[in-house]
Amino acid sequence: MNILFTFSLFLLPLLFFLVKRRRRSLKKLPPGSLGIPIIGHSLNLLWAMRANTAEKWITERAKRYGPVSKLSLFGKPTVFIYGLAANKFVFTSDGTKLSNQQTESVKMILGDRCLLELSGEDHKRVRNALASFLKPDCLKNYIGKMEEEIRIHLEMHWQGKMKVTVLPLMKKLTFNIICSLLFGLERGARRDVFVKYFQQMLGGMWSIPINLPFTRFNRSLKASAKVQKLSKELICEKRNELKKGASSHQDLITCLLSIRGDDTKGLVSEDEIIHNVMLIMAAGHDTSAVLITLIVRLLANDATVYEAVLREQEEIKNSKPSGELLNWEDLAKMKYSWRVAMEILRTIPPIFGGFRKTLEDIEYEGYLIPKGWQIFWVTSMTHMDGNIFPEPCTFDPTRFEDPAAIPPYSYIPFGGGARICPGYEFAKIETLITIHYLVTQFTWKLCCSDNCFRRDPLPVPTQNLPIQIVSKKKQENRS
Ligand code: HEM
Repeated sequence: MNILFTFSLFLLPLLFFLVKRRRRSLKKLPPGSLGIPIIGHSLNLLWAMRANTAEKWITERAKRYGPVSKLSLFGKPTVFIYGLAANKFVFTSDGTKLSNQQTESVKMILGDRCLLELSGEDHKRVRNALASFLKPDCLKNYIGKMEEEIRIHLEMHWQGKMKVTVLPLMKKLTFNIICSLLFGLERGARRDVFVKYFQQMLGGMWSIPINLPFTRFNRSLKASAKVQKLSKELICEKRNELKKGASSHQDLITCLLSIRGDDTKGLVSEDEIIHNVMLIMAAGHDTSAVLITLIVRLLANDATVYEAVLREQEEIKNSKPSGELLNWEDLAKMKYSWRVAMEILRTIPPIFGGFRKTLEDIEYEGYLIPKGWQIFWVTSMTHMDGNIFPEPCTFDPTRFEDPAAIPPYSYIPFGGGARICPGYEFAKIETLITIHYLVTQFTWKLCCSDNCFRRDPLPVPTQNLPIQIVSKKKQENRS
């Protein structure tokens, strides 16, 4: 009896462990090499991004090793997978087999309670709270506020100018829109300080996490501490305003502060609010700014698309009394303009790809992906697949006329599944309103006609896209 007990207590688990290890050793790791220790393939990928050849780099890898291959990126063993099934696997497995994976620098700068770091129930809870503000039903009420920011921006930075540089201006605009709508931070000195520290903070997000004086990372961490302090003060003010009876729907922060859990305590903690304020700023302003910049570039290069966008926007403008603000119905009419944006997002997705981490050994397509490894997914692989998007190199917004023709998990500029971008509608509204005002108020020509961009890690057109502009108001006055 005693022998049997000892056997079951010690030997059975040992046997189980040995069988598991034997099984694991029988499974193959994917093809490819892990490269030089620590450096791996990171520099190759970063160089390719800078040279605008990252898509080519990844396609050549896929040709060489097939749909599953191993490499090493940012100091971690990684498996690169691509295709419809791979996208579905990455976006639907979240939280069980896979967790989100960010670099150490992102975690240290944005904080450990932002959505990127949360998983399971915590992720769902905070994400639902954010989504309650970012859903169309709620955003509908803020179109006017967004439009006001855009009109002021064009008046201040475009009217009266002959030449502007688009990307930095669009970053300024999308930053201001987020400050106003999401944080209720009005224009003025305090917003300017916030912007300054925020830019410094973003500067080190993709740097090597060496925290020594004078490194980019060190500056970024210091700026992150200042942004957190400012956010804390802002939250304190909003709390007081709420106590005095202010509306809980003034902005995202008041909305988050007002959501109660089952125990009537706040559903989202103060740290979670602060860390997600920083995430939203980081995730939401560059991406939209790049999209609008690429649309401006395309409209200068493609007369047919430009004419069609202009016609659509002028029809909307002419259907309204002069000076009346846009509304939800007007945005719904901007179908062609949004298809142009979608086609830009297909051909030059702002987010190149992302990472997940395996929480257990995973068997995928007959290969073993060991626990703790990274999985690397890339947007462009399905976007440029001719079987999914015929003639993938041709710019054709009409391919989005029938959404049912696009297979699930093939078009992924905003990701997919539980972590799909919650800012999709926000980005759509700000892009459409900005394009409305740009095409109805200005004409423009590119100053650099090379049509190139580098990834840093988001796409940056040559010289940030300088353009010569002429205000239509001026043209009207002349005629
Ligand atoms: C053209 C504009 C945008 C693009 C292309 C974009 C793209 C993406 C992608 C691809 C992801 C998913 C990453 C993954 O699965 O690992 C993501 C996540 C996210 N995005 Fe966006 N985004 C855009 C605009 C915005 C805006 C305007 C906001 C906020 C107002 C925002 C907030 C977020 C947040 C908070 C996440 C993390 C979600 C989570 O982990 O649950 N994004 N975005």
